[in-house]
Amino acid sequence: MKMSRSVLGIAVVVAVLGSVYVGCAETNTPPVPVWRANPVGAGVRCAETNTSPVRSSIPYVATRHDTVRDMLWMANVGKDDVVYDLGSGDGRIVIAAVRDFGARRAVGIEIDPELIRESRENAHKAGVTDRVEFIQGDLFTNDFRQASVVTLFLGHKPNIRLRPKMFSILKPGTRIVSHQFGMGEWQPDKTLTVRTVFLGMVGEMWNPFMDNPHVPDYTGNESHFGRSDTLLIWIVPAPVAGIWRGKIETSQGPQDCQLIFHQRLSRVGGTFQISGQTKLAGDVHADIWGNHVRFWCTLDAMPMPYGQFEMRFDGHVNGDTMQGTLAVSEKDRLHESAWEAKRDKANFAGTWEWPCASGTRSVKLRIERRDSHLVATYQDRDQAVPVTDFYDCGGGFYFTLLIGRQGDGVRITEDTGWLIGEGVLDHGALRGTIEFYPYGDMHGVPGGREASRPVIQNWAPRLIKP
Ligand SMILES: C[S@@+](CC[C@H](N)C(=O)[O-])C[C@H]1O[C@@H](n2cnc3c(N)ncnc32)[C@H](O)[C@@H]1O
Repeated sequence: MKMSRSVLGIAVVVAVLGSVYVGCAETNTPPVPVWRANPVGAGVRCAETNTSPVRSSIPYVATRHDTVRDMLWMANVGKDDVVYDLGSGDGRIVIAAVRDFGARRAVGIEIDPELIRESRENAHKAGVTDRVEFIQGDLFTNDFRQASVVTLFLGHKPNIRLRPKMFSILKPGTRIVSHQFGMGEWQPDKTLTVRTVFLGMVGEMWNPFMDNPHVPDYTGNESHFGRSDTLLIWIVPAPVAGIWRGKIETSQGPQDCQLIFHQRLSRVGGTFQISGQTKLAGDVHADIWGNHVRFWCTLDAMPMPYGQFEMRFDGHVNGDTMQGTLAVSEKDRLHESAWEAKRDKANFAGTWEWPCASGTRSVKLRIERRDSHLVATYQDRDQAVPVTDFYDCGGGFYFTLLIGRQGDGVRITEDTGWLIGEGVLDHGALRGTIEFYPYGDMHGVPGGREASRPVIQNWAPRLIKP
């Protein structure tokens, strides 16, 4: 059975409304016709990529001007910012960023040459041509690493496709603001419901994982068509996964402290261990905001007679160095001091093997370093599937893979489902969690309900080939 999950854009609306032009609900300006006749007169304009044979299904729907202001306000755009609008339409976000928010520079990347022409004309009328640039091209292949703010109004699927690139090329702290569409299990740092929508874009058709917050198919944080307009913001996190080591001062003298940070996009947590007399160990709870890290530690068990112990940190990560202030409280003693930890170097390259969640065979993940980037391939039987949603988090990595994807749809077998993995390299051993969310019996897979239960396991794959 094949299930199509293509981005629908506005085709559905057009089918209902025929050739009627639909205006975005503007507060101060008259309605702007946003549905344009395409060559076949369907009343919708879809961009076609020139650089790729794949037709882009992201339609042109303009963000209302008041929502443009809300997006730029949410991103706190100011004079030092470089704003990129990916799929910039008639240039309204780009122009407003410099004209109304004083951004240093703003750039639009847009595939449609007609919209590029219109944007340049609009920039000319607004008197901002010296601070804006419109690049006619594909947003998936053009570079936007200079951005300090990225704006999106694209769709769930394009957002998911963009996120590994955004994570890897954007500086930690870069703000990503999306109009309406989320990024699956990468939960936004903040969501705003700004107003009621008149007509927007429809994201995706139903899929069995739209309510599952653990997988990229999750659409629970997106507004529903016709109800509200949602804006979402993510702060690009620094890659902080790995093993961090530093010395801490305790009442028993200086001791070695080791922290293991596991990272899933903006979610960070882990464990700590203090060697020496106290031998304390427990969990680390962390918050990450760009390269700003705060963590606090809780003990697994209270070692008698050592008594109460707490450790809190507030500081920054820069590459493999973490620096800030560490507060250690033991019984009645609080010791606060400047603190530094260094991260172990990690090299994941190689072929890693572990038992498959949906069968009795082994499966593999091959990780290679190409042009300073990690490239991963999932191998099962004689099939090799590129893992495009892969994140190098420094001393660890995170990935998601929809097994069974076929073109724009999904071919359902007992192996079909989301495979989600996260690991940290500890002295050559990879340790983390592997999760498998099967499509299960909903689609007639043999095995009944058991088959559709997620399998969440500690992950300790074996390195079989460096
Ligand atoms: C929903 S509109 C958003 C326009 C504008 N950002 C706004 O909010 O008013 C999406 C835009 O992305 C453009 N687009 C679609 N695929 C693209 C691609 N592969 N590269 C660049 N632009 C693309 C479309 O032509 C369209 O103008």
